[in-house]
Amino acid sequence: MKIGVIGSGVVGRVLASAFLKEGNEVKIGTRDIKKAEIIKWKEENPKGDAGSFKDGATFGEMLVLATAGEVIADAIKSAGVENFSGKVVIDATNPIAHVPPVNGVLKFFTSLDESLMERIQAQIPNAHVVKAFNSIGNAFMYKPDFGGIKPTMFICGNDTEAKKKVTIILDAFGWETADMGKMEAARAIEPLCILWCIPGLLHDQWTHAFKLLKK
Ligand SMILES: NC(=O)c1ccc[n+]([C@@H]2O[C@H](COP(=O)([O-])OP(=O)(O)OC[C@H]3O[C@@H](n4cnc5c(N)ncnc54)[C@H](OP(=O)(O)O)[C@@H]3O)[C@@H](O)[C@H]2O)c1
Repeated sequence: MKIGVIGSGVVGRVLASAFLKEGNEVKIGTRDIKKAEIIKWKEENPKGDAGSFKDGATFGEMLVLATAGEVIADAIKSAGVENFSGKVVIDATNPIAHVPPVNGVLKFFTSLDESLMERIQAQIPNAHVVKAFNSIGNAFMYKPDFGGIKPTMFICGNDTEAKKKVTIILDAFGWETADMGKMEAARAIEPLCILWCIPGLLHDQWTHAFKLLKK
């Protein structure tokens, strides 16, 4: 499949490399294809490509959103709202506000009554947005090794077929998927990022993942 990744930060690059390893074609979208991180990524991933946000969005049959949360609306605008239509869009973003954490607790610019994912879905109403990868550190996004225990990726989104496609990807990436329902569930999934970051910000412990236990 052709995958367009909107965002060239560490998450965009890690997911882009993972999709390449799984045999897909990948184009990363960025404002600056000449930046050092992209040049290095292309050297390490000779089959991968990079272009503008619009290049990434037009290239991808499936798209990944991986910019800072506060600028995702601008990035989507630059990519062209029409280029998201009818596509599965994996949303890995978090609405982290630019203020210092309080006792390790990050602040979000959204409320518990409206997630960033819902804003994104409203901006690209014809896309099938699926929340995923937001509450795990980039080091564990692909083939996480927790001693044989598969961690749980919480996902949500309005389109059942889109979630099935993302679940197949998550299976290949080494995850167990827990579908939490429609997009409003992102109001609960996005704050898992806050919880995930607390041990890191307080104790510099960043090597954990969530597991949903069921009977
Ligand atoms: N870091 C993690 O381990 C982790 C884990 C889970 C989820 N997340 C979430 O994943 C997303 C990406 O995180 P990240 O750490 O990889 O990178 P980031 O530093 O949060 O974002 C980098 C991306 O944001 C874009 N950007 C910055 N300012 C912009 C602007 N004014 N207009 C348009 N685009 C702009 C950059 O564009 P250029 O490409 O042009 O530089 C780059 O693509 C975030 O929402 C984060 O909360 C992060």
